[in-house]
Amino acid sequence: MRELFPDQRQTAPLTLAARSNLWPLTALGYETWRKRALTLLSGRPFPLEEEFSLMLQSVQPVAGRDFLDLGTSTGLYARALLEAGAARVFALDLSPAMLKVALRKARGHAGFVPLLARAEAIPLPEASVDGVLVGGSWNEFSNPQQVVQQMYRVLKPGGRLWIMFSHRSESPLQRALEWAGLRFLALPELMDLLSKNGFKIDGWREGSVGFVRGTKITPGR
Ligand SMILES: C[S@@+](CC[C@H](N)C(=O)[O-])C[C@H]1O[C@@H](n2cnc3c(N)ncnc32)[C@H](O)[C@@H]1O
Repeated sequence: MRELFPDQRQTAPLTLAARSNLWPLTALGYETWRKRALTLLSGRPFPLEEEFSLMLQSVQPVAGRDFLDLGTSTGLYARALLEAGAARVFALDLSPAMLKVALRKARGHAGFVPLLARAEAIPLPEASVDGVLVGGSWNEFSNPQQVVQQMYRVLKPGGRLWIMFSHRSESPLQRALEWAGLRFLALPELMDLLSKNGFKIDGWREGSVGFVRGTKITPGR
């Protein structure tokens, strides 16, 4: 029988980049940076409202459904989903400091469910959510293959996937960030990883900020 709740101890040690998210100051300042992040990374005005609109369109229907926001930080995606009518959002992060801020900001949203855990070992049963969202956290996961397998496990058949990530470039800054533990995949590498692990790719957007949307395929259906 497959494990319902994978053992968190089986995951790799935290990288420097991941550890920086444990600091309370990082969590307190996070949304100030995040509101401007896609504009800075893409070199054009890219407000959160535009990103949320793309994200919400990709995982429709939202109303009354359950979602997992993987690497939620302070819960920006989780709140956007609940405001769009989601029943519950499991907001998972390995950082207690981030989840503390997320809980405060999500006050009044009854369906907000914080989960202190690793994306490589998601503490949810098989086929338990209608959609999985990954906003930027993709670049921080130490074992993307394991995360893809976990996302597949917790999604219901036909469940939707949305990933926003920072695309691989020649920038020296990316090489320095790789040293701290971040990972930068090119869009074809990410799509290949998803396709090989049971996802159909429904759409994507190229650029320094990349997006991929997909659906869980169940063999024999
Ligand atoms: C760049 S932030 C992205 C946050 C959020 N998704 C957003 O769109 O604003 C990355 C977050 O992922 C979390 N994280 C990184 N690696 C993780 C892992 N392996 N498991 C769970 N959370 C992780 C970090 O603690 C951090 O809060």
